[in-house]
Amino acid sequence: MEQKLIDKYGRKLDYLRLSVTDRCNFRCYYCMPEEGMNFVQRDDLLSYEELDYLTRIFVDLGVRKIRITGGEPFVRKGILDFIELLSKNQNLKEITLTSNGSISKAQINQLAKFGVKKINISLDSLDPKRFYEITRRDKFEEVMGCIKTLLSEDFNVKLNCVIDGKKNIEDIVPFINLTKDHALSVRFLEEMPFNGTGKFDIPEWNYQALYNYIDSQFPGIQKISDESNSTSVNYKVPGFSGSFGIIPAFSRTFCGTCNRIRLSATGELRTCLYGPPVTNLRDILRSGCGDDQLKSAILEAVANKAKDGFEAENQTSNQAKNSMSFLGG
Ligand code: GTP
Ligand code: 5AD
Ligand code: SF4
Repeated sequence: MEQKLIDKYGRKLDYLRLSVTDRCNFRCYYCMPEEGMNFVQRDDLLSYEELDYLTRIFVDLGVRKIRITGGEPFVRKGILDFIELLSKNQNLKEITLTSNGSISKAQINQLAKFGVKKINISLDSLDPKRFYEITRRDKFEEVMGCIKTLLSEDFNVKLNCVIDGKKNIEDIVPFINLTKDHALSVRFLEEMPFNGTGKFDIPEWNYQALYNYIDSQFPGIQKISDESNSTSVNYKVPGFSGSFGIIPAFSRTFCGTCNRIRLSATGELRTCLYGPPVTNLRDILRSGCGDDQLKSAILEAVANKAKDGFEAENQTSNQAKNSMSFLGG
């Protein structure tokens, strides 16, 4: 199938991040306020039928990898049936998920059946008390159980750990030690300004600070190769089974190789996480337009993808009115 999603800088946008809900059963401080938000009403959400229709169009245009995100994808009823439907599209090479670890053993078995092999789990602490402070939910054991099941079922597991200097620095060493006997990847993230509060402080624990700290704790860490279009810069401790990485999500040094396009649960299409929605595919679809108009709207958005998200610099308080739970990460 021909690849049509190439932007004016030559980047091939073959990775679609599909947010299926803005709702979540957690309340992580870096994502939304404790009281939650005005969540989207059901009629405004893309139905599974619409999601299926739109994803077929994206795949026709050249998307090869879809990551299902939320909010938390598993709070939406019927998500497994939708994943099964997606898995039948022969031109789609990879279906992946980012979850907070609210996936039961039975659901994990189903995912394996549908050919899902890689799952990223958000986990910011290995200490139950700190986990509670960060997520405001008493779900530590459940999330750890989910990770254990994923590993025992041979999924490729990456843990995403957002670092805050005041909250979870003490977790960095235990997380890296977890990679000694477990073949997983732990990725430490710079915090981004999408917490739904309108307030944000530039993260002190940026890539360099994280690297320096880890290097001081584990002298001799080795650089390993990064997957193409990777958001993380990856390393390992010699002799350890797994690896770790740092995601410069705030510094955004990976924009040059960005292959991502994003669809929100309400149909907003974004070509950059830090940018505004470019168009709304739900509205185009519901106005009765067919494939051609949808394809044109997508192609136009892709052609105008910004070189990087830096025009958004210095607007962090505006960005912080947004929640990652809506944007999908
Ligand atoms: P892999 O496909 O396994 O490499 O995962 P991923 O990094 O694409 O996805 P994941 O959902 O695990 O995201 C990890 C972190 O990277 C999240 O905090 C995302 O918000 C962030 N991230 C992903 N894509 C982008 C991007 O285009 N720009 C920025 N700034 N951050 C991103
Ligand atoms: N900054 C950095 N990462 C974030 N995530 C959610 N909100 C933020 C934020 N403000 C991460 C979650 C999840 C991924 C999709 O995004 O940890 O793993
Ligand atoms: Fe939920 Fe993920 Fe947001 Fe946490 S970061 S509240 S797990 S959507």
